[in-house]
Amino acid sequence: MKRDFLTLADFNKAEILSLLDRAIEMKKTSAPAGAPLAGRSVGLMFEKASTRTRVSFEAAIYQLGAHSIYMNPNDIQLGRGETAGDTARVLSSYMDAIIIRTFEHERVEEFAKYSRVPVINGLTDRHHPCQGLADLMTMLEKKGRLEGLKVAYIGDGNNVANSLLEGASMLKMDLSIACPEGFEPDPLVLEKAMKSPGKNEIVVLRDPKEAAGRSDVIYTDVWVSMGQEKKSDGKKDRFKNYQINDALLSCAKPDAIVMHCLPAHRGEEITDEVMDGPRSVIFEQAENRLYSGKALLEKLLMAHS
Ligand code: CP
Ligand code: NVA
Repeated sequence: MKRDFLTLADFNKAEILSLLDRAIEMKKTSAPAGAPLAGRSVGLMFEKASTRTRVSFEAAIYQLGAHSIYMNPNDIQLGRGETAGDTARVLSSYMDAIIIRTFEHERVEEFAKYSRVPVINGLTDRHHPCQGLADLMTMLEKKGRLEGLKVAYIGDGNNVANSLLEGASMLKMDLSIACPEGFEPDPLVLEKAMKSPGKNEIVVLRDPKEAAGRSDVIYTDVWVSMGQEKKSDGKKDRFKNYQINDALLSCAKPDAIVMHCLPAHRGEEITDEVMDGPRSVIFEQAENRLYSGKALLEKLLMAHS
């Protein structure tokens, strides 16, 4: 049966941990011998801009011996009103997996419902699970464990925060989210994470210093996500105390690492000093998109052959 990867919760803890191990192993070796996905095709259909997700997946597909087909929705009939369901039925008869970046999360679910091959969520307004995988991989590499790690997410309760919440609850990490009132993560994702059994703590706070206090990891993302530009008048003012700067970083543990999914708006959610400073693992985190994406494709496509 085909598996989709629409949210981190589509995999269980054991599956996530084994994916992370495989990604770390792939990072140590170069391209796998024997092109395990030779003769396969993977489509990428992106309705929003992308640097990391698109390019790391295209490189991963090539390294695994498969062929990638990038589709701009405006160049296919989807842009002229063909339904997501009809598009999925047709595309999945040509290809072995489809990676989609879109707006409403329901759209990727609709796509997955009608696709006969695995669908990977390359970001929706609600979730960014591929980023979540690379984030967990980076934390595991840098800190040597996930369970019990104290993570502080400072900023907008967006798609990246939602995926981090799912990862934290599954891997039993403590997660403190600091955001202004009205910018909390998705209520259903939050409720599910808070109810998941375990000794870890998930909290939403207003004070970034309180969230950052004694943390092992400080994470942030842009204050205005793709597609929200028009309805975000004045939003940046609400977030001005939520910047990751040296003062905030001094609240964390002395060996805390700083993460950001990128792209960053330098000078807004993070300063140049922190982003380029010794505690930033941001560019290695971006590099890890390649290995975690590769491990994900291998898992989904080798199982669905
Ligand atoms: N982090 C991330 O998904 O980056 P892109 O928008 O460049 O793909
Ligand atoms: N929250 C950001 C993440 C970009 C990778 C956005 O959706 O634009």
